[in-house]
Amino acid sequence: NNVTVVDHPLVQHKLALMRDKDTSTKSFRQLTREIATLLCYEVTRDLSLDEVEIETPIAAMTARMLSGKKLVFAPILRAGMGLLEGMLELVPSARVSHIGLYRDPETLDAVEYYFKAPTDLPDRLVITIDPMLATGNTAVAAIDRLKEHGAVDLRYVCLLATPTGLANLQQHHPNVRVWTAAIDHGLNDHGYIVPGLGDAGDRLYG
Ligand code: PRP
Repeated sequence: NNVTVVDHPLVQHKLALMRDKDTSTKSFRQLTREIATLLCYEVTRDLSLDEVEIETPIAAMTARMLSGKKLVFAPILRAGMGLLEGMLELVPSARVSHIGLYRDPETLDAVEYYFKAPTDLPDRLVITIDPMLATGNTAVAAIDRLKEHGAVDLRYVCLLATPTGLANLQQHHPNVRVWTAAIDHGLNDHGYIVPGLGDAGDRLYG
């Protein structure tokens, strides 16, 4: 399957706190950071390892270290920035590709206003991050753009997805696997996820 729901108890607990409308901006930010670290742990679970020879202070041994492609995190502005710090905590050497997209409130189409990527995207595993996969238009546009710049090995991480959004992403980018903390019922008339957690960008940044 293309979609992994991360149902770890810590993730579900933190997500419940984030959904609560009475959670403060300060707590919401802190929880976003913490949950990002846990999602990062899951999205990197199958990275390949090489055997390497090292010496401990006591003896020589064969240990295992990450091999293969280095990582790029690609947060979608604004709300994806909330998840970035928590991911960098686990992979401090990752590069970062920024993409600014907002949704047109009428059409719900994604409109790009910023893009800056490292030059070696083709050689890296690119993990797009954004709290919300609602219609999926934003994710599709972001991944279109990353592919234009040569990205071939892509994953997508979010907190909340909808069946519609997942279908949209799957249709346009069938080779992009998704990690999400939950799949919600659907969308309201304004394109907000129901029950969701409100507007993640607004709850993080006001
Ligand atoms: C929200 C959210 C996603 C997008 C998801 O961003 O952070 O980027 O909508 O919606 P979609 O799947 O229907 O495209 P928004 O446009 O509110 O911008 P912001 O992050 O700057 O607040």
